[in-house]
Amino acid sequence: MPEAPVVEIRNLSEHVDETVSVLGWVEHVRTHGKVGFVVVRDGTGIVQGVFVRKALSDDVWQAHEETPQESTVRMTGRVKADPRSPGGHELQVEDYRVLSRADDYPIQPKEHGVDFLLDHRHLWLRSKLQRAGLRVRAEVEQAIHDFFYERGFVRIDTPILTGSIGEHAGTLFETDYFGRPAFLAQTGQLYVEAACPAFRKVYCFGPTFRAEKSKTRRHLTEFWMVEPEVAFADSDENMRLQEAFVCYLVERALERCSEELEMLERDTAPLERVKAPFPRLDYGEAVERLRARGHDIEWGDDLGAPDEVALTEDFDRPVFVYNYPKQAKAFYMKENPDDPRTVLCDDLLAPEGYGEIIGGSQREDDLDKLLARIREEGLPEEAYGWYLDLRRYGTFPHSGFGLGLERTVAWITGRHHIRELIPFPRLMNRLDP
Ligand code: 4AD
Ligand code: MG
Repeated sequence: MPEAPVVEIRNLSEHVDETVSVLGWVEHVRTHGKVGFVVVRDGTGIVQGVFVRKALSDDVWQAHEETPQESTVRMTGRVKADPRSPGGHELQVEDYRVLSRADDYPIQPKEHGVDFLLDHRHLWLRSKLQRAGLRVRAEVEQAIHDFFYERGFVRIDTPILTGSIGEHAGTLFETDYFGRPAFLAQTGQLYVEAACPAFRKVYCFGPTFRAEKSKTRRHLTEFWMVEPEVAFADSDENMRLQEAFVCYLVERALERCSEELEMLERDTAPLERVKAPFPRLDYGEAVERLRARGHDIEWGDDLGAPDEVALTEDFDRPVFVYNYPKQAKAFYMKENPDDPRTVLCDDLLAPEGYGEIIGGSQREDDLDKLLARIREEGLPEEAYGWYLDLRRYGTFPHSGFGLGLERTVAWITGRHHIRELIPFPRLMNRLDP
């Protein structure tokens, strides 16, 4: 008899009443007297195989009973539509082969501590909630590219190894580059700014690195950031782009990841309310509101995580805080002509306690002012020659922003800690696996 064709579980509906094989990993096995059930996952879906004692050889019957969780198997049978089955189909098993036994699989269906799970991240990835979260991440990544592609942006891949400091001197990973110091990119921004006169609307999307000594639910040392940059856009237009972008990502997740969001028990009502326009608070107004709530904050201070959370509590959607004091922000932000103590920038704060997901600004396009800021911050001027050239040769108003992928996906999925929304998280105390 020829072997049954291997099909992906997601395509089983095209094979009802045919005999097919699935290749995958065993999620669990149950046997009740003369009937047994094996649930197999192949990465595209899950399907339950029904084993009937009297219809099967002793070998097959015995093999099913003894299969450890996460063993690799080939399960062959007739496809039946069954709405009560996980995935909507089941296989009436005719043949079953264990291709590789997984004895003593470390992750068992019980509560494990998070350190144990992170130590076994390479296996934890297979678990249902982890799969759901990472699938939402992948959908959001695709939506990011679609959004910018549909709007005529050109994707620019920016370097990871850099000679100039992108954000702050304090959080750099430094490495030796043939005898001179190099830094892992904190941002691709300076490079997308350079690409603006070539393509007008550009974006980069890649891993960025911050040696942040913070062990919070919102910090990774390696995270993914998408950074658009638009020539001739001012700060107001920049915020409108952010709004449209965030609405697009949320809508896409609601539309295409409803199953995953349900698995994650995400209440989608707050996501349905994410519609433009988002409320905007001037930094000064934000400080007033916080002081009225009893927060210990002075004009000039940066906002801390509890401040951000408090500010979003009065609204049902993300909130912009704009025009922060110069001293709280990076060197490249444009001075506010109406109040030179401040810069033309914004942070977008996500609701439900997730805090800042975007940092954006109009860029300083005046050569002298930019140079003065670089000196003020004590940054090595010689490393910025090329960046200053952008202000020497055809300077132009421009704006852009960076959205942190993991924070955004944590908010959309309603997960507490962003480390679950990246396949292999890098944290202060974690480089493995
Ligand atoms: O506000 P940040 O530092 O902005 C920039 O890097 C600008 N160069 C962006 C730009 O204008 N092109 O970072 C942007 C976003 C934050 O809002 C946050 O979502 C995320 O990046 N982020 C982090 N995510 C996880 N872990 C960390 N340690 C993060 N630091 C920033
Ligand atoms: Mg920021």
